[in-house]
This record gives sequence, structure tokens and C-alpha cells, in this order.
Amino acid sequence: MLFDAVLTPAEIDLLPNQDLAATVCIVFDVLRATSSMVTGLAHGVEEIRPVCTIEEALELRTQWPGAVLGGERFGDRIEGFDLGNSPQEYCRPGMRRVVTTTTNGTVALRACAGAREVWAGALLNMGALEERLRREVPERVALVCAGTFRELALEDALAAGMLAAAFPEAELTDAAQLARAIYREHRADIPAALRLAKNGRTLLANGRGGDVEWCAQVSRFPLVGLMRGGILRKG
Ligand code: MLT
Repeated sequence: MLFDAVLTPAEIDLLPNQDLAATVCIVFDVLRATSSMVTGLAHGVEEIRPVCTIEEALELRTQWPGAVLGGERFGDRIEGFDLGNSPQEYCRPGMRRVVTTTTNGTVALRACAGAREVWAGALLNMGALEERLRREVPERVALVCAGTFRELALEDALAAGMLAAAFPEAELTDAAQLARAIYREHRADIPAALRLAKNGRTLLANGRGGDVEWCAQVSRFPLVGLMRGGILRKG
């Protein structure tokens, strides 16, 4: 297995033009998009459609019976939407279908659409990601770090590096080695690393420290979110 890491949104923009037919893309938006998706799938949500724009989300709601709308802009719930992007909102019972649009996470997932497989990754499902990789042993793995606005996000690189570190026998590109180094720097205290990251500090400043603590839990949910035909389901 070869692990690569896609560390910035500028690199994510290039993914749709790359040949990813032999690549499993694992998208990390630890604070908070993929953490919320994994939490939802662990609490009864069956199908999640990550979309890039508010307009797409509104249109899909009319075509997809029973769908609720979730997501954020600048961290806040979008006007007229049912949910924001806080993972604990995705524990609400009775939600079967969710359409979500977020600043980085849903964009990163969609950019990987041409890959052999696309998985939603988080600290919350780290053990399940590792287990599934050991089972599938794909030729190439791209650890896609969704970032924040146009910047790298520490927590995404840390999670990518944690997964890469679990495979000492694998080949790592320089970018994947960098992610692993970030993980090694912070592995003694993962919640502290999330609080140190820019996204973590912003969430704390906005009274959303509970989200940071939630997303810092490692391997809480034994599932992988698998995206096929634009729909994410429990894999
Ligand atoms: C994103 O997709 O950019 C993030 O998940 C933002 C957030 O924390 O809600």
C-alpha cells in the first residue's frame, strides 16, 4: 500500500482531474463535517448526500423524500436548514436521510468522486478505517485533509497521520510522512491538539467546546462511511 496525503484545499481542487481509479480516498474533516457524518451514521441516519452549495441542497430536498438539511457557513447553521454542523445534532432520532453542505468537508468528498472508493474519516472511526484498510489492502490510499477555508487544518493532518502510523510496513509519500510527524508530535494528548488548532480555538471561542471534545474521541464508532453514487452510507 502507498499512502499519500492531500494536505490543502488547493490540492483538493485538482483531484477531479486526476486518475483515482486505483485509489481509496479517505476524507478527513475532523472539525467537524466528517465527524458529524460518522456520528449520524452511528445514530440511525441511513443516507447522507454531501453537496457543495446551498442551492444544490435546497433542490435535493424537494427531490428526496424525508430528507433533512444540515450544514454550515462560517460555522453556523444555514438559514432555513434543519441542522447545523454540530455532531451532537446528528444523534437526533428519526433522521433517515440528510443532505449536507459545509465549507470544506462536503467539497472535499465531492472532489474525490472519481476514486475507486471514497470513505468518510474521522478520529471517531479511526479503528474501523484501519480495520477496513487491512481487509481491502488497496494499491493506493489518499488521505484527503479537507482543511479550513483555503488553509491546511492541523486536526485533519493529525488524523491522516494517525492512520498512516498504524501501517509501519506501508510506503509513505513525503506528504504522508509529514502528516505522520504531526500525529507523532501530538499523540500524547489528542484533545489538547484539537483545542490548539485554529478550528478548535474558533469553536471554543464560539461556545462550541463540546463539539471539539466530541470530535477528539478516538475509535468511538466502529463504522466507515462509504460514498457511492454521491451517497454516503454505513459501510
Ligand atoms: C467545514 O466543512 O469546513 C467544517 O466542517 C466547518 C465546521 O466546523 O462546521
